[in-house]
Amino acid sequence: MDTGWTTGQALRKTMACFVTGVTVVTSDDGEPRGITVNSLTSVSLDPPQVLISIGTKSRMRATLLEAQSFTVSVLSASLIDAATRFASPVRPRGKEAFDGFSVAPGPHLGHPIFTECMTWLECRTEQAWESGDHTLFTARVIDCGFGRGVTPLLFCNGVLMPHEPVAVGTAGPPRSG
Ligand SMILES: Cc1cc2nc3c(=O)[nH]c(=O)nc-3n(C[C@H](O)[C@H](O)[C@H](O)COP(=O)(O)O)c2cc1C
Repeated sequence: MDTGWTTGQALRKTMACFVTGVTVVTSDDGEPRGITVNSLTSVSLDPPQVLISIGTKSRMRATLLEAQSFTVSVLSASLIDAATRFASPVRPRGKEAFDGFSVAPGPHLGHPIFTECMTWLECRTEQAWESGDHTLFTARVIDCGFGRGVTPLLFCNGVLMPHEPVAVGTAGPPRSG
């Protein structure tokens, strides 16, 4: 087995096979901001904590450091356009970025929540530390709930997949006997 260090490109291709959900993380630095994120990880249940990993070159990093709070909308398949909008480097900055989407202020922090999301989490940042070319934000979940979404949006091999559930009994080839 080769025990040498691997490359970022090899890691990117390898991790692309790890299927994730997709979120939009919102926060506020005087204007509401959002960014598409799939690095959401559940860290601890007691206390309830999650983590997001944000690239050091991301403009959202400064917003998150200033606000010390963020809100996560776990996207449904119907929010595929939000996933692409908030991943685009040329999207409008500020509240115009949310035009065309149904959003409501979160109950405690006031950051936008997509009403068609699967679930949402309001988070207060507890720690932010640099790791390689990303900043890791560990946060206490202060509230969470369900949106109107039905089917989760998935991300795999660089492609957004509005996964449709297949009912048991209708999948696969017909069975004989
Ligand atoms: C499905 C998907 C997941 C992403 N996840 C992350 C992530 O976890 N962390 C991150 O920093 N960027 C992530 N990105 C890239 C950012 O959304 C993208 O670079 C964005 O333009 C950054 O915006 P900003 O510079 O305004 O912060 C993801 C993009 C996509 C399409």
